[in-house]
Parts: sequence; C-alpha cells; structure tokens
Amino acid sequence: MKTVITYGTFDLFHQGHYNLLKRAKELGDYLIVGVTTEHFDEARGKVNVVDPIIERIENVKKTGFADMIIVEDHDGQKIEDIQKYGADIFTVGSDWVGTFDYLNAFCKVVYLERTPNISSTFLRKKQFKIVRIGIVGTGRIAPRFISESKYVSGLTIECAYNPVEESAKRFEKREKIKCYTGDYEEFLENVDAVYIASPNETHFEYAKKAIEAGKHVLSEKPLSFTKKESEVLYTSAKGKGVVLMEAVKAAYCPGFQQLINVAKSGKIGDIVDVEASFTRLADPLSRERTDAEYGGAFLEFGPSVLVPVIKLMGKDYTSVTFDSIYDGNGVDLYTKADIRYDNGFATVKTGVGVKTEGQLVVSGTKGYIIAQSPWWLMKKFDVRYEDSSKIEHFEPRFQGDGLRYEISDFVSKINGTDKKDYKLTAGESTIMSEFVEKFMEQKKKLMISRQRKGEDK
Ligand code: CTP
Repeated sequence: MKTVITYGTFDLFHQGHYNLLKRAKELGDYLIVGVTTEHFDEARGKVNVVDPIIERIENVKKTGFADMIIVEDHDGQKIEDIQKYGADIFTVGSDWVGTFDYLNAFCKVVYLERTPNISSTFLRKKQFKIVRIGIVGTGRIAPRFISESKYVSGLTIECAYNPVEESAKRFEKREKIKCYTGDYEEFLENVDAVYIASPNETHFEYAKKAIEAGKHVLSEKPLSFTKKESEVLYTSAKGKGVVLMEAVKAAYCPGFQQLINVAKSGKIGDIVDVEASFTRLADPLSRERTDAEYGGAFLEFGPSVLVPVIKLMGKDYTSVTFDSIYDGNGVDLYTKADIRYDNGFATVKTGVGVKTEGQLVVSGTKGYIIAQSPWWLMKKFDVRYEDSSKIEHFEPRFQGDGLRYEISDFVSKINGTDKKDYKLTAGESTIMSEFVEKFMEQKKKLMISRQRKGEDK
C-alpha cells in the first residue's frame, strides 16, 4: 500500500484544492491530509484566514479523497508525520517547487501542477474589498503599524495625514506610502478606514470627523478624555455602521485572552484583586515628559493597565483614587490608582519618570496568576498556588510586536467576519475614558491649588 501525505490551509475551499487532492490521491492508495491551524498560519504570516479550522477540515472531508485528516500546528511536524504514518510520497502544488526538497531524505517528494488562476488569497480579495487604511499622525508608532500590517492580508496603507504637511511628506517618502496630505477632508476621501496615532488630545476630534465621513476608526489610546465623548463616538459609529476600536494592544494579543479565560475558569477561585503595572522611563525631552496637559504616565499607560482590571473585575467599580508624583511643570511621572469593587479591589501603576516592576498579578481565593513584564504582550504567565511546587506555566502564541493582532481584528470586523467585540467592548472602552476623566479632574484640581499656593507665597 502506498501512502501519500499533503498539507494546506484550504481556506475558502476552491477548485484548485479539489484538483490537488484528487491528483494526490491518484499518486497512491491512502491519502493523509494535514490541515493547518490558525496559529500555525499566523506564524507563517497568514493572519486572517477566513474559515475556521473545523470548516476547512469539513471541506477536505467532503471531497471524499482523504482517508485520514490530521492537524498541522508546528514547524518540523511534516518530518514527524512522514515517519509516524510511514508516508511514501509527500506532495504539494507546484507553487512550492524546491521548498520541500529536504523531505526527499524521508520519502519521495512530488510537486503537482497547480491549477491556474485560483487561490484562497484571490478569493479573499474578491470576497472582501481591500481595506484602504490611512494613518493620522506620523510619529513613533506609525512605522511600526505599517511593518506589522504587512502580516495581515486584506488591507493597504493608502495615505498619511499630518497637519504639518512637511512631516507627512517625509513620512511618505521614508515609508513609501501612496499619498500624503495635510488636509484632513482630502485624506478621508482617499481611505476606507483610519488609524489614529496622533497626539493624545487630537484623538477624539479626528475620530469624530472620520466616523461622520463614514470611515472605520482604530484610535490609539486614550480614545477620548471623557466618558461622554467616548459614548458620542461609539453611538455615532453605530449609527453610521462603521467599526470603532480603541487600540489597546494588550487586549488583542492571544495570550491576554487566554489569561483572562484561565482566570475566569475558576482555577484560582474567586478573583479578588488585580494589580497591573506598566512603566517606561521616557526621554526627558519627549512629549510624555514635557506636555504638562496631555503627556505624563497615566495618559500614556493608563488604558493598558486598566484593561485587565475591567476585564476581570468588571465595569461596576465603587470608587477610584489617584496618587501621583508630579514634576515641577505638572507632568505626572508616576501615577497609582486604587480601584474598589463590592467584591474586591485593584491597583494600577504607571510611570514615565519612575521605574517599577511591570507585572500583572491576579489574586484569587484558590491561587494567583502572575505575568511578568512585558505582560502587555503576554508571551507567558504562571498559575501558582499555596503549594509553591505546583506551578502551571503557559506560553501562548505571539508574533512580531503584537500590533498585527489588533490590525487583524480591525480588518475582520470591517469585513464582518468577526462580529463580536468581546476582546475590548465599547462599554469597557467607555469606562476606561471615565477613569481618564476622573484622573484629569483630580490633576486639574491639584494644579489649581498648587498655583494658588504659589500665588500666596
Ligand atoms: N493549490 C493548487 N492550485 C491552486 C491553489 C492551491 O494546487 N490554484 C494547492 C497548493 O499548492 C497546496 C494546496 O493546494 O498544495 C493547499 O493550498 P493552500 O495554501 O491552502 O491554498 P492557496 O489557494 O494557495 O492559498 P493562499 O492563497 O492563501 O496561499
């Protein structure tokens, strides 16, 4: 008996897949088909596969050619499978000629002629219009957004906007973007969606105008400075039928979702305390350290540390108090917030001029979860118990610098393939704005009393 083995994603199953499987089966007597997991595809740079794995397996099954279907989820698995199943022939389409020659050491490698003019990529493009994204603001994060967006299919970075046209022009040259402009209306006309990465105080206005123009919005945090403003934005986005997402990267990383689910699974009992810290010593000349009104630690890192708190303790807090260390100009170098709930509490710490251990600790009645810095990328975390020898270690998947997950979710939502916004809901994002609002109020009061004291002297 001759065993043949082949692998593929088989997304949006098409005639090319059917022909390949038919020919593969004809090469022998028994056909094994490996279908890749989303995780494995991500690692190879295909971030938005449309069909879930169950559906892709089902479609392969329906052809009737596969005698066995397996799941491929890691590098090096092909050699393992060939040996394990005693495969005589490994085959794939001719688009891969040469790539798998190394498998000749284990079995015969056959490249079958690829069916012309059809591919999943082509179908994805046909089914979902390419989303033309424009970038507002051309500062530090924008180039990272561009490089990470290359790992997400279905989008192009179309245009850059900066009110200082010279900066937009420089950015466009450096990043090789199709167009740049210093005119926001003109910019909006050229795009389907915007990524707002401008200074904090401009997010709301840019988002509002973009939504009114019917554009989808992914805005850097903080989305706005008040609960009311965020409500206005989410209501208006709903009315216009466009996607609005606050870009808190941590919320979209796969490991973060896993940590939340593990915490909520009852493993550590009832959750009673969440502690989250995020500090980065910023350059004294940077915007974070010099802009007394809209710079500082809490506006920089507050939304990131609040996400685990709101996800785990909920939106219904009973009180919040802020403590900050300010510099002479009123920039908060370090801000701590204590948040109370009926059934527990939370502490968050943020710093741009004070350094502390950046960790996330979730305490429960049976154990606790600890994720070390950089937990906001969530590459690993532990579940620990009273018995210190009992540790469960998790290393979730994570690629690049994490932005690709948020970008992928944004594009999937625009395409309607990901309808639920459970990772960071409009309600959760609005509560974050309420915290920001309370922080700003307190800071204002403090500044006024400082000023008075100064005048009294
Ligand atoms: N295949 C083929 N002819 C096509 C498309 C795919 O013979 N027109 C083969 C591939 O060479 C591979 C298998 O089908 O052996 C599964 O391919 P997969 O990567 O899932 O499909 P593609 O359509 O190539 O997907 P994508 O566009 O995402 O790369």
